[in-house]
Amino acid sequence: MSTTIQEKEASFVLHTYNRAPFVLVRGQGMTLTDSEGKTYLDFTSGIAVNALGHADPEIVAAVQEQVAQLSHVCNLYHTAPHAELAGMLCELSFADKVYFCNSGGEAVEAAIKFARKYARVVHGPGKTGIVAFSGGFHGRTAGALAITAREKYQAPFRPLMPGASFAPFNDLEAAGKLIGPETCAVFVEPVQGEGGVHIAHPEFLRGLRRLCDRYGALLVFDEIQCGLGRTGRLWAYEHAGVEPDMMTLAKALGGGLPIGATLLTDRVAEVIEPGDHGSTFAGGPVVCRAAQVVLRRVSDPALLEHVSAMGDLLVKRLGELNSPRIREIRGLGLMIGIEMDGEVMPLLEAGYERGVLLLNAGPNVLRLLPPYIVTEAEIDRLMDILAEIIEQ
Ligand SMILES: Cc1ncc(COP(=O)(O)O)c(C=O)c1O
Repeated sequence: MSTTIQEKEASFVLHTYNRAPFVLVRGQGMTLTDSEGKTYLDFTSGIAVNALGHADPEIVAAVQEQVAQLSHVCNLYHTAPHAELAGMLCELSFADKVYFCNSGGEAVEAAIKFARKYARVVHGPGKTGIVAFSGGFHGRTAGALAITAREKYQAPFRPLMPGASFAPFNDLEAAGKLIGPETCAVFVEPVQGEGGVHIAHPEFLRGLRRLCDRYGALLVFDEIQCGLGRTGRLWAYEHAGVEPDMMTLAKALGGGLPIGATLLTDRVAEVIEPGDHGSTFAGGPVVCRAAQVVLRRVSDPALLEHVSAMGDLLVKRLGELNSPRIREIRGLGLMIGIEMDGEVMPLLEAGYERGVLLLNAGPNVLRLLPPYIVTEAEIDRLMDILAEIIEQ
């Protein structure tokens, strides 16, 4: 079966991803099973999505119940899950309003449009510049790509949306030279994920807040990967004590179903009118019911404490590996980057062999994003496997 599926994919699916050489058929908690019955310990969470692990019974029940009751109506009608999820997000964050969409890229697109409209209405035309950072990743849709400083991703698609400029991450002085009267927004990940797990210095985020306030620009935190409990706090911005004007979310929010959200303050929301933006599927009842379960569970202080404790344990155990191949270990909660002295793809492949799924973040960084339910025993097992494969 596995070979047939892989051949079919190769024949009919557009080749935008290189996939691992097995076919996954089932997931339960931390474990995935392939079509040959082989199991894999999942230290990826489907790239920061399955925060509660696979097939969480409460998510399954909520989705089953909602899909049987009402699965889609579009945004011309009110539904309870949509309104209730928005209320929960606002109660738990800096935000006063929520715009729902279906992915991280879309949440970023919405934030770009809202920032541009806010600047135009409040300050007049011409204030359209967006400052973002080296190593940042905001998505592959047209607008998000333009604020993602990666030559390889951008080059084939030029000309891009104009107005973007980039400062080195964590370099406040350089950011200060780019942020000015023509800046409508500054986009930053409080912890960069795809760029290699780099944590923003609290003073850097505070400085960006000051610069945005000075020039009437909006500060946008992209917490698509680092938000929703991943760092041991519900929002990564809590570590720095700085609040944004907008925040983008996706990934973990839907418990495995697709959803994105752009959170805003009322000050920004006031300029947006019906017709400015929209999406047929966005904020549908099924995904919003799943997301309510996720949000209630990931905001539980006991789970957040577990995330911090398991993150600390992982970093400690990684240090104890004492491997000369490891250059640096960076982490906040269960978002961990291990900078190696060479390419990490062979480690990912060796992981497949030994039944563990790992991620890379660029060529030299091994990235761990396990579900928040990971246990000490599973971390021990990972360490045994890592010790072996790094050695080899
Ligand atoms: C910080 C960040 N922003 C945006 C995105 C894009 O999200 P999506 O793949 O859902 O479009 C990602 C995805 O990895 C991300 O990590």
